[in-house]
Amino acid sequence: MPTPTASRIAIIGAGSVGSTIAYTLLTNPIASEILLVDPKEEIRDAQVQDLSDATYHGNTSTQVRAGTHAEAGQCDVIVVTAGAKQKKGESRTDLIGRNQSILRSVITDMQPFKPEAILLLVANPVDVLAYFALQYSGLPANQVIGSGTFLDSARLRGALATKAGVAASSIDAFVLGEHGESQIVAWSSACIAGIPLHVFPATRSLDREAMATETKQKASALIESKGSTEFGIGSVTASICRSILFDQKVVRPVSIYVDELKVCLSKTVVLGRKGVEEIVELPLSDEESGALESSAKQLREVIEEAEK
Ligand code: LAC
Repeated sequence: MPTPTASRIAIIGAGSVGSTIAYTLLTNPIASEILLVDPKEEIRDAQVQDLSDATYHGNTSTQVRAGTHAEAGQCDVIVVTAGAKQKKGESRTDLIGRNQSILRSVITDMQPFKPEAILLLVANPVDVLAYFALQYSGLPANQVIGSGTFLDSARLRGALATKAGVAASSIDAFVLGEHGESQIVAWSSACIAGIPLHVFPATRSLDREAMATETKQKASALIESKGSTEFGIGSVTASICRSILFDQKVVRPVSIYVDELKVCLSKTVVLGRKGVEEIVELPLSDEESGALESSAKQLREVIEEAEK
């Protein structure tokens, strides 16, 4: 197993999300080398040069360079951002046709993979793409991960932190299921410093539905105003890479293949050097379990439509 400082991370797609992830990985050093991969060579090389400018004043030991798909297949973590982005008024699932064929081609070009490589899907619809990435890559299921609802969970914790007047890091609250319309909040297990939300004074009369809706719609609201989102996903992706390469065993909600449901969706898992080391099943209320099954059903429908 390589030491974290000798690890390499490839980023497929040098657009705004890919380059923001690269920047976050440079400024929070996790790997020795970042490879930026994109068939649009002019943009890729310009991004590499701009990112390199951020490394010349001694704040990082991480190097960044342009790479090929074949080199990416030999990296420790491969972050896939390649694909069309949501436009105003589009849902994440509207992107499946375009992004599924891009995914198939980049996976073909990366093969054969380093046996212990972790494939981390970030492009949308992330759960459906994680499902196809598992099929196309032939990698074990614990090595194919989607960023999933980690970002939605961060948004939810941020909103709860503001409401409760405590640090987001003192809050345990998870969004599960689809990174999209059918996501669910596991309210029944959410707590602040171990205190259930219905007991904690500042959240006793919380409007849960309004907060869940605001969380779910945050990306669309940002896309409406600024055309895209990149900083939140950049930070979340760097955090997943750190948990994996430093073998931290942190529990995160990320998208993984769930055999009983035959889809990839977000559950809380232990993230370490092997990728998903274990699924930590949150105790859910009957209503939450039903909503998670319905989220899986909706994802299954998108997969079946895409397979036609
Ligand atoms: C978002 C995009 C990454 O939620 O799906 O910001």
